[in-house]
Amino acid sequence: MSRIEFKEVSKRYGPALPLTINKAELTVEHGEFCVFVGPSGCGKSTLLRMVAGLEEISEGELIIGGTTVNKLPPSKRGVAMVFQSYALYPHMTVAENMAFGLRILGADRTAIDRKVKAAADILQLGPLMNRLPKELSGGQRQRVAIGRAIVKEPKVFLFDEPLSNLDAALRVQTRLEIAKLHRELGSASMIYVTHDQVEAMTLADKIVLLHTGDLIQERGSVAQTGSPMMLYHRPASLFVAEFIGSPKMNILSAKLISAEHSHAVVEVAGHRLNAAVDARHLAAGASVKLGIRPEHIVLGEEGAPASIQVALEHVERLGDASLLYVNLPGGPSMFTVRVEGSVRPVQGTSLSLRLLPDQLHLFDSAGLACTRTVELPT
Ligand SMILES: Nc1ncnc2c1ncn2[C@@H]1O[C@H](COP(=O)(O)OP(=O)(O)OP(=O)(O)O)[C@@H](O)[C@H]1O
Ligand SMILES: [Mg+2]
Repeated sequence: MSRIEFKEVSKRYGPALPLTINKAELTVEHGEFCVFVGPSGCGKSTLLRMVAGLEEISEGELIIGGTTVNKLPPSKRGVAMVFQSYALYPHMTVAENMAFGLRILGADRTAIDRKVKAAADILQLGPLMNRLPKELSGGQRQRVAIGRAIVKEPKVFLFDEPLSNLDAALRVQTRLEIAKLHRELGSASMIYVTHDQVEAMTLADKIVLLHTGDLIQERGSVAQTGSPMMLYHRPASLFVAEFIGSPKMNILSAKLISAEHSHAVVEVAGHRLNAAVDARHLAAGASVKLGIRPEHIVLGEEGAPASIQVALEHVERLGDASLLYVNLPGGPSMFTVRVEGSVRPVQGTSLSLRLLPDQLHLFDSAGLACTRTVELPT
């Protein structure tokens, strides 16, 4: 079994330093693809290195396949790690690089050859086996690094930003290869660290979003755990709402007017809006934040219900879509609207934005989300 459990795992790099990881509680299920995301410095690599056994665990318990591994050396954990920097031996061929880990363990020659060949087949490295790393492209080098992990037949694969040195096209190709690899090696669990939203959304069965800075001390390291659709549609806090999704969710200061079980009425920039959320635990008059994603705003007729009149400040045309930056009284300076690329609004004109109840998020003054009462994709 390759289930990984973090039980209140904490990490402090030195007695005088703040906690890097605070009581992280999370489980990666057998065979699951779990992606760690979060701002730079939030501790993603630290968590991964603790699983690999490269970093000591200050407090708490780490369990892999039912065994507590806190004191187990890396070689005994059944894990293999792939780094951003590939870390290949420059004087060894592709085949030698892939075989090396097994060779130092004293594995049988024919078994090594068989495993290296199988991994080379999966990654289509066959024609490159006799080349040196310097004779390979970045993407090919990363495939060799992944191959070196596969031959160890680990229960757990750990990837730390494996694609960040690759160009955009190669990233997409290698991302698809990693997804395929996960399907083929069904029983292995994978933990994958990335900065890239698209990688997180497309690869993950489960995303773990980590906090940073003061929030770590306040609420623990894990901001939210869930499926990509869960984090996108039901962010538990303002922090998650603003982190997941690109361009970022728009956030407006608002006041709660009234709350019923299926919806709340809020006042924002002099307008009253209905939001499909349960805010009954908040007092009428409370200061709240209203959130709406750029892709969920509808352009409407002037005077249509729930519409707000704004001035269009700037347009960015991306081809398939356009980003409109508008000036909304009381809103952020960069209130963003994403529309179809065929729409051609003119800079400086006035637009009517419709903020529909089912698309609105509401957060209390502590930044915690109210439950959305509308049915959402899972
Ligand atoms: N060996 C170390 N000694 C002291 N502090 C460290 C050490 N390694 C990491 N840190 C600190 O711990 C925090 C988390 O670092 P970590 O490398 O885990 O972040 P990360 O989420 O992987 O960031 P990035 O996205 O930039 O790779 C950072 O503040 C970092 O400076
Ligand atoms: Mg890192």
